[in-house]
Amino acid sequence: MDDVTTIAVGGERPYDVLVGRDLPHHLPRLLDGAARAAVLYAPPLRAQAEAITRVISEAGIAPLAIDVPDAEAGKSIDVAARCWDQLGAAGFTRTDAVVGVGGGAVTDLAGFVAACWLRGVRWIPVSTSLLGMVDAAVGGKTGVNTAAGKNLVGAFHPPAGVLCDLSLLDTLPRVDLVAGLAEVVKCGFIADPAILDLIESRTPDEGPPDEAVTRELVERAVRVKADVVGADLREGGLREVLNYGHTLAHAIEKVEGYSWRHGHAVSVGLVYAATLGHLAGRLDEATAKRHSSVLAALGLPTAYRADAWPDLLATMRVDKKARGSKLRFVVLDGIARPSILDGPSDELLRAAYEEVAA
Ligand code: GLY
Repeated sequence: MDDVTTIAVGGERPYDVLVGRDLPHHLPRLLDGAARAAVLYAPPLRAQAEAITRVISEAGIAPLAIDVPDAEAGKSIDVAARCWDQLGAAGFTRTDAVVGVGGGAVTDLAGFVAACWLRGVRWIPVSTSLLGMVDAAVGGKTGVNTAAGKNLVGAFHPPAGVLCDLSLLDTLPRVDLVAGLAEVVKCGFIADPAILDLIESRTPDEGPPDEAVTRELVERAVRVKADVVGADLREGGLREVLNYGHTLAHAIEKVEGYSWRHGHAVSVGLVYAATLGHLAGRLDEATAKRHSSVLAALGLPTAYRADAWPDLLATMRVDKKARGSKLRFVVLDGIARPSILDGPSDELLRAAYEEVAA
């Protein structure tokens, strides 16, 4: 019997996130009624993609393997257009489906390809990174990058199901596993403090969490995200809380030319947002400090270059989540009590940066 945890995501088009090991055999059920399924994958994941195409083909569904460039290089309109050409050549119809095998970039692309083909066909992300499992794969945000910026072109297109196959993490480099935990910590602070207790119950020399702990962390973080996106798919309000720590994080990523891992930037961004909340009189000092201690215990960065502040501030001002010239931050009024800080002064923004300035 499968040891699979099923986490339901509600909303207009509900679906399940499956967490467990060796999950590809769930795909035929999710693809029921499809005559064809495109499998988008990046070359380093060829073996995993082949295993998936085998399962699909054994179920009588014609697989169409499409390799796409790895990471952000694959998230382009040119790559999407090449995928659409291949779907067209294979005669893809409305009942056919797209499977994305990879980290967040590949699943964002796969979802976008599916969202636009015939104005929306079924798709399923098979997430191969911890970050992808707890963030990109859940919630139906799909898209590509353009010259104007990252993720400015896309669609909300919920998947038909999500596979978080923990066996795919066996070969994930440790640095990527740890980086993905920054989003898990975020979920702990905005909604589920048991995540923080679990991390704090371990000693720093235990290294990254073992599989059982990782599984619990993934399940808890997915539940947090599922609850939020089930209630607010289109980011009308509540979904904004998932942006906790991300305003500074996006600026760091941009200033670094996207050479920093997203999770590392989020880690610094969380410490910054916590300090900002504290200095704004919203969050108690102990909870603010708890951010850096939990993140540091995982080996995540909590500081960034002191001299970068002017660039970071300028970059935050053009963040797509800013409103007019006012900056807008998700802060905490307490653990699991996210709220919005609108238009903080430059002095406050600068003072909070002191906490992360290295
Ligand atoms: N990654 C934030 C969201 O899905 O809304």
